[in-house]
Amino acid sequence: MKCISIRRIVLLFLLLDFFVAKLAAQPLYHEQHRPQIHFSPREKWANDPNGMVYYKGVYHLFYQHYPDSSVWGPMHWGHATSRDLIHWQQQPIALYPDSLGYIFSGSAVVDIHNTSGFGKDGKIPLVALFTSHDPNKTGASSLSRENQSIAYSLDNGTTWTKGPDNPVLKNPGVEDFRDPKVMWFENSKKWIMTLAAQDKISFYSSPNLKDWKKESDFGKDLGAHGGVWECPDLFPLVHNGKKTWVLIVNINPGGPNKGSATQYFLGNFDGNKFVSIDSKTRWIDYGPDEYAGITWSNTGNRKIFLGWMSNWIYANQVPTEKWRNAMTIPRELKIIESGNELVLASLPVKEMDGLSLKPVVFHNLEINNHSVLSKKSGATSLPCRINLNMAAASDFSITLSNEAGEYIKLGYNKSDNRYFIDRTHAGKADFADNFAATHTAPRLSNAPGLNLSLIVDVSSVELFADNGMTVMTEIFFPSKPFGKIDLQSPKNTVLKELTITALRGIWK
Ligand code: FRU
Repeated sequence: MKCISIRRIVLLFLLLDFFVAKLAAQPLYHEQHRPQIHFSPREKWANDPNGMVYYKGVYHLFYQHYPDSSVWGPMHWGHATSRDLIHWQQQPIALYPDSLGYIFSGSAVVDIHNTSGFGKDGKIPLVALFTSHDPNKTGASSLSRENQSIAYSLDNGTTWTKGPDNPVLKNPGVEDFRDPKVMWFENSKKWIMTLAAQDKISFYSSPNLKDWKKESDFGKDLGAHGGVWECPDLFPLVHNGKKTWVLIVNINPGGPNKGSATQYFLGNFDGNKFVSIDSKTRWIDYGPDEYAGITWSNTGNRKIFLGWMSNWIYANQVPTEKWRNAMTIPRELKIIESGNELVLASLPVKEMDGLSLKPVVFHNLEINNHSVLSKKSGATSLPCRINLNMAAASDFSITLSNEAGEYIKLGYNKSDNRYFIDRTHAGKADFADNFAATHTAPRLSNAPGLNLSLIVDVSSVELFADNGMTVMTEIFFPSKPFGKIDLQSPKNTVLKELTITALRGIWK
């Protein structure tokens, strides 16, 4: 007996040793599926980007965070900072839940003129507006569970103090009343809050970020309404000398490829009302895995957008344990023209170029059904960027695969004029029904030539087609990274140029 139990103990130790060694073999930020060029929290749960503000050379990224678990729970604002939008440094938690509830999504501004009065000794306050969500208010009282609160920082965003009179904007009786995005409106010298109110957007104005007056509602009968409206954003962009206002409205569910997605409206805002130029439904990103995307404040004319790289359908179940969910690559937004139409295009920020290792370039590359590129190019490591250019849009696909026979396949189908990403054989998928699926998006450009830029990380691909007019974001969980790149075309097709660039990872 004694002998057996000693043997058991030894076995137990050996097993323990094995698992400890396995864990040690996966250092922080290099665990299986951990994105190598995207922000993800050092550990535990993350959803929406929040309070994004640029100040004194630093990009602040706050985000919905639950520090005690890798599933959604009592929300805090996690915090990370970057000087280049690419390399991130994890910071201490910025906002903790309090007697008013969880700290839901919101925004932050630089109150240069100290309209809030929070500034002291000449220190400019950064001011955050967020939703206090009281989880104890259920049933009839759920109509008042979401209210807007305020916090400020006098040390450039490092530490935050909640306002003494929270909440500053009380719920008028709407169950989903949240995610305030605040901006300065110069014409009326007032702050404007854009707020999601269930199935519409409500605009409020304030001289001091504390006293809010309702201006108007927008969108009850416009755009997509397959789910609740959340996380809005409002800002002007100038194209050919003409100002157009962009209203971003995230929606869950009801996205073009099921679940969560980001729609937008183009129009005019006069400080009181937003008027849309038409009734068309438009999407910033057609893929299933960009959500709650909004922009940084205080970046001048440059508008930089960041989304959460997941979908509420499976965000709590994706197969990572130490941390859960990452952000997209930051993207610069521009208005561009396609025929007579205006389109909001997004492209990866130029700061990404700093990650490029030596690019491998092919000119006039012929592709058919059997092109195998990885050996020729040597660019078999992830992350990487693939840029492609063809003179006339025709059918093609790119397959990224590993030696386990797993792959993702993406490309363009001329017959239906759509881009596609197929993740039906991309590794683990049994954590959610229909995760293993093919998703498509319309080609919006009518230019004869086609260009595509792909950002491929260990567990995601972001497709930017036609200078960012059609965008798709997709996550996947292969057992080994995809290291092989193949190109196919049913007919012989010539690519004017193909560039494969391995990218340096951002974590040490
Ligand atoms: C969007 C959202 C927001 C809310 C937050 C809660 O993903 O539902 O509307 O503020 O997440 O974590």
